[in-house]
Amino acid sequence: MSNFVDFLFSMNCIQILLRNLSTSKILCSDDLFVHRDNSDNNPNTPFEFTEANLTRLKAIIQNYPEGAQRSALGAALDIVQRQIGWIPISAMHIVAEILSIPRMRVYEYATFHTMAKRRYRGKFNIKVCVTTPCMIRGSDEILQAVEVATKCIEGGLSDDGLFGVDTVQCQGACVHAPLLVIDDDYFEDVTVNDVYSIIQTLRNGCIPPPGPQSGRYGAEPACGLTTLLEPPPPPGYGLQKALLQETPKHPSPKTK
Ligand code: FES
Repeated sequence: MSNFVDFLFSMNCIQILLRNLSTSKILCSDDLFVHRDNSDNNPNTPFEFTEANLTRLKAIIQNYPEGAQRSALGAALDIVQRQIGWIPISAMHIVAEILSIPRMRVYEYATFHTMAKRRYRGKFNIKVCVTTPCMIRGSDEILQAVEVATKCIEGGLSDDGLFGVDTVQCQGACVHAPLLVIDDDYFEDVTVNDVYSIIQTLRNGCIPPPGPQSGRYGAEPACGLTTLLEPPPPPGYGLQKALLQETPKHPSPKTK
């Protein structure tokens, strides 16, 4: 009897273990929309627009009518991010001041759009798409390869500060699944070997060629052409015979 109870207990443990293994990762939602001051990111974190970026921002603001300068908010935060790689809260305050809008409007934008990085994500921010089409095309293995090649786990930063690894939802390029997004570039149709070579190229200080790594052009089928294999039929193809006969000409008024 006691053996049987032990057996049931061990089965139960295995079941719990399996269930845990198959549970999706816990999302640190705090990370998405909560700000807590820390030594790296607080209202006194040094930030100043470079002269060139300030000129750029002023030019963008002028594209909008008087009183609608808040429309330049996304562009302003993008400039901050391109300048230093992320958006500290001190920079948000400066942006709010330049655009004459409440700080809350900037916080709302920065916490809603996941493209706005509110912490440093490395010199190269590698994002692996894990939504269903990419998942069934092997994004789990791709993520694993990225973690091994960068020596950095998802959500973390590599020791040398070169790579930050994140997972993202559909990037709108499912036809090329699985894919990585590195900063502004898409690397599509990637295999585990492609991942290692892309990351090694970045380590060597070069930028690997973006786009489909399989060599296919645009969004053409991965297995080659499946339609339009022959020259298209001529005009009139498939019409009833009666419709193909030459239309009788009307006699001209003079010949009547
Ligand atoms: S699911 Fe990955 S790009 Fe759409």
